[in-house]
Amino acid sequence: MKRILITLFLSVFLNQLGIGQTNDISTDNQRLAWFRNAKFGIFMHWGVYSVGRTSESWPFFNGTISNKDYMSQAKEFTAENFDPDQWADLFIRAGARYVVLTAMHHDGVALWDTKVNKKTIRNLTPCKKDLIAEYTAAMQKAGLKTGLYYSHVDWTNPDYMRLTQDLTAKELKEKLDIPYNFGGFWNERNGKGYYTNKKLTPEEKKVWTRFVDGHDRQLLELLSSYGQIDLLWFDFMHPNGGDFVWGEKELKQKMLQQNPALIVNNRIGNEGDYHTAERGLPVVTPDEPWEYSQTLSDRWGYMPNDKNYKSTRKLVRTLCECIAMGGNFLLDIGPKADGTFDPEHVKRLLEMGDWIKKNEEAVYETQRGLLPGHFYGPTALSLDKKALFLYLFDDPKEDIQIKGIHSKLKQATILGHPEKVLTTRRVGGADWANIPGMILVDVPRELLDDKVTVLKLEFEEPINLYREKGKDIVNN
Ligand code: GLC
Repeated sequence: MKRILITLFLSVFLNQLGIGQTNDISTDNQRLAWFRNAKFGIFMHWGVYSVGRTSESWPFFNGTISNKDYMSQAKEFTAENFDPDQWADLFIRAGARYVVLTAMHHDGVALWDTKVNKKTIRNLTPCKKDLIAEYTAAMQKAGLKTGLYYSHVDWTNPDYMRLTQDLTAKELKEKLDIPYNFGGFWNERNGKGYYTNKKLTPEEKKVWTRFVDGHDRQLLELLSSYGQIDLLWFDFMHPNGGDFVWGEKELKQKMLQQNPALIVNNRIGNEGDYHTAERGLPVVTPDEPWEYSQTLSDRWGYMPNDKNYKSTRKLVRTLCECIAMGGNFLLDIGPKADGTFDPEHVKRLLEMGDWIKKNEEAVYETQRGLLPGHFYGPTALSLDKKALFLYLFDDPKEDIQIKGIHSKLKQATILGHPEKVLTTRRVGGADWANIPGMILVDVPRELLDDKVTVLKLEFEEPINLYREKGKDIVNN
């Protein structure tokens, strides 16, 4: 009894301190369960840059344009046609299970009414709304997992810029008014490992702490004011090392105390819950859980001349490739400054939704497929491993061949056409040598999907694979 009481006392005491609430594996798995099964999410970059004369933040950092000119877009950011319920409806019809919206990009402009500084959409633009409040309420109501992107850095913050760019507040103000290449300075220093070797003076440490404190307070505002935030999508924790300490471990604990179900991507030191791939589909499967983000056109934010739209077919294929590697696809679109979307984006999202609806068994609640070699193309497995999904990117010239499967095939169908059982046969095989041979499936041309055709192979048991080296059969 005494021991129980001591344990109880200790755990209550440690919990109060925020210690002991470590993310042990079982709770991590619980937190991440929805994410592993979600497969498809929508990412949105929205801010003053959505007026579309520049892309997000980078142009003023790289000196293409002054921050003053960049910010002149603010007066045209109205969000006057923003209808968050309509957004939610579109995302649901697109088949997305989660959404991520930029609460603040590197330009430091908050889409919510932060108390930490005055750089809010309400203060700087004609839009007199707390956009994060409206967005989160609508997404939560619609049952979408609700995520927020947050840039750790703010390239207009005098404390941050003083320590990373050697600029006084006055100098920073001057540089923000002209095109100035902050990025060049930063690259040069980065290349020399300057930041991680730099020793901050006690006075500089205070400046850094003040910056990080504002950063933490903003995050806690986001987590405490807008109901259940399911995901924080961080970006750009830099510099991180040497005297540039973010305290991300403690921050994560605090965030989890505020919101025990929260998950975060991996751009937060070592505290990430899942991996983030960008700018190219991975070839070697990342450790799970993971997510791949990609833009629908070329840019993250809306730009009127950004018309290099990916075809729906390509987007569906990317989704299949992510699923086949056990990952999620986070597809980025940029809402316009008035809160509406490019009709070409809407069209593609709805077409993706149609495809997903038809093929949803091979999308949600699946796991990564077979290793290369069994089949030429991406595949996925149902969670019980009794169904194998083959994603056919091209129209087959003859029957489909799958190799190295011991399990007995029950039947093969094409998703969307359950009534039509396909003709299958097993060829080759040698029981005495444990060689399963090949499964052949006839695929009727008239049932092919113009984007990706999904074949479903159902087995009597969880799939049992032949993974031996091809061997000589000498006693035949
Ligand atoms: C890159 C871009 C940044 C964007 C992010 C989204 O890091 O530089 O602007 O927000 O990708 O993943």
